[in-house]
Parts: sequence; structure tokens; C-alpha cells
Amino acid sequence: MSDDSHEHQSFETRAIHAGNTADPLTGAVVPPIYQVSTYKQDGVGGLRGGYEYSRSANPTRTALEENLAALEGGVRGLAFASGLAAEDCLLRTLLAPGDHVVIPNDAYGGTFRLFAKVVSRWGVEWSVADTSDADSIRAALTPKTKVIWVETPSNPLLGITDIAMVADIARTAGAKLVVDNTFASPYLQQPLALGADVVVHSLTKYMGGHSDVVGGALVTADAALGEELAYHQNAMGAVAGPFDSWIVLRGIKTLAVRMDRHAENAAKIVEVLKRHPKVTKVLYPGLPEHPGHEIAAKQMRNFGGMISFQVEGGEEAAVAVCNRAKLFTLGESLGGVESLIEHPGRMTHASVVGSALEVPADLIRLSVGIENADDLVADLTQALG
Ligand SMILES: Cc1ncc(COP(=O)(O)O)c(C=O)c1O
Repeated sequence: MSDDSHEHQSFETRAIHAGNTADPLTGAVVPPIYQVSTYKQDGVGGLRGGYEYSRSANPTRTALEENLAALEGGVRGLAFASGLAAEDCLLRTLLAPGDHVVIPNDAYGGTFRLFAKVVSRWGVEWSVADTSDADSIRAALTPKTKVIWVETPSNPLLGITDIAMVADIARTAGAKLVVDNTFASPYLQQPLALGADVVVHSLTKYMGGHSDVVGGALVTADAALGEELAYHQNAMGAVAGPFDSWIVLRGIKTLAVRMDRHAENAAKIVEVLKRHPKVTKVLYPGLPEHPGHEIAAKQMRNFGGMISFQVEGGEEAAVAVCNRAKLFTLGESLGGVESLIEHPGRMTHASVVGSALEVPADLIRLSVGIENADDLVADLTQALG
């Protein structure tokens, strides 16, 4: 299904067409869901189209993987059963016992748990750094550092890291730079063009976009690393299934229009939160006073649909706001068309309590959906009381 002609097309066009060639058998304009495990061979080893077993490769997954590579400007895309499955495959490919990783002081709790509770058991060392600060990263490096991990914007504090700056540090240190691009999506930010080696996604979020699938992805700038990861993807086996691949591919077609609306709605909500007497701090990279604003404006097309804020009255007040919201659904995850609200300290980031990544107890995180902005503002206003 490969088609190299998408290289010079704009993002919106690639989102719809890359990997999405018409079905060779019927002309169906959408790649079919090849819900199949194995493929008839024309004599031993006589593969039609290169497919032999769906863990190794499946045409619907191939369509998604080609689309992902095209959207991130990479050479190889790989789709996994979840974002964490993608991260696990990447870490076990890049790291060996004795190696060292620099991880950010603000990141998805599950990513931290993977380092702290799983990867560390295999003799991999890790240090925490403020990745927005070059000195903090340099201080965390050791002669054995093989990976610098960046999440920007970060989850849940919306911290911004200068990707090109960290790419320079990584190159000098002989380490790979991995960027989790889940919050921005490739529509808003292109880490490989800024010098990253690998992009990680939770496809569960903006890429799928409708809170109806769990998936993950890796995209590499380098063909050899892509090949090595593909080998491990098959050897480890946590692949995206055909239906999940299909539904993510479908979601991606509207990524650009959704992201525009997410960001537009978020900007309106930020204005209201900033003026609200019960809100003590608003964390959003679109705000001029945000410490990463200038870098975000330089490396992102727009500031995205995620907002975090702190409220007067501490943890119980924050929990009460979450419980009072009606149109904002109380739930984990993010990036769907429907707005979500959550309390990171007790929900998504409960696994980092007591660590360097612990989040403020009075913090609330919003995933702003694409509903009518006035309806969203009315709900938040009543929830704040
Ligand atoms: C920034 C980020 N990276 C990775 C993940 C993990 O992805 P998944 O839940 O699809 O395994 C998440 C999940 O919330 C996330 O928010």
C-alpha cells in the first residue's frame, strides 16, 4: 500500500491519503479491516504481497503505519496495542543492563511507572531532570546515558521543552532523543524535524480522537532503527489489531480540524479561568506568562486542547470541582471529541505520589473537547461554584 507521493503534500492531505490507497481487489476507498491471522501461500514461501502472519504484518496495520510515518515526517511507523506497549518495545530495544536514561520531572504517570517499576528491574538506571532546562539535563547525564526522554507539552503540568535544544545535548552525549508527542499530535508539532530520533504516541488520545480505542505508536527518523524496532515489535508481539488500526486511521483523517477546534475552545476557557476568583493558577502554554510560551510558539502550530489549573481550598476543593462538572465528563484519558475533567493526584498520576514527579494536590486537568465553547464555559463556571 506504499505511496511515496505524499511527501510534498500538506499535513491535512497526508492525514487523509497517506497509507489510504484504494483496495486493490474492490476499489474500496477505505482500507478494509483485514480481520485475519494468516495468509494462503502459493507454494511454500510464496507470499502474496509479503504477508504471512498478522503479528508480523497485517495490511490494515500497514496502512496505519505508513500514515503515521508520513504525518511525523519519519521513515518508519509502527503501531502497538497501547502507548505503553510502544514505550516498552522502544526501551527494550534502545537499552541494555547498565545503561542510563534521563527522564523528565513531569510526565505521564504510566511512563514513570514503566521506568521506575519495570525497566529498572533489568539493571537500567534513571535520573530525573527538568527537561526545559539545559543545565538540569546536563547535570543528569552520565557516561552511560543512552536515552533522553521528553514529553512536551507535558502531562499534566503543560511544561514545554525546547526539542531542538535537547536534540543538541543528546547528539553531543551520544544518546537518543525520544519525544512523546501525544499532547501535541503531529499536526501541532513535528519532533523529528527538530532533531528527535524517535516519536512516541498514545494513539488512544488525539490521534484516535473519539475515546473508543487504545493504541500506541513509534515513528523513527532512521531506517535502521525502524527495522530493529519492527523486529522487536514482532518478537515481543504487542501489536495493534486490525480493527484498532482501522479506527485510528479513520480518526486521523479529521485530526487537523479537531485540533483547530480543541485549541480554539481551550483558548476561550483559559480566558474565563484566568479571571475566575477561585482559580489560583492556570497552566496553558498559550498564556504569555507561561515560562515555555515563546518556545511553544516557535515549535508548535498552536497550543493545543489541554489545560491544567489550581484552585483555592486545596485537594478537597479540587476534587469537589471535578465531581460537580456535568458536561465535562469525570474520567481519565484525553484527546477525544468530548470534554473530560480529572484530578491527576488521585487519578492519572496516582502512581507518582511520593516521587519527584508528584503533582500538586489542588490541580485539575481538562481535556477540552470540540463541543460548543459557551456550553463548556457554563459547565465549568457552575462546577467552580
Ligand atoms: C503523554 C502520554 N504518553 C503515553 C501514554 C500511555 O498511553 P496508553 O494509555 O495508550 O498506553 C499516555 C496515557 O495517558 C499519555 O498521556
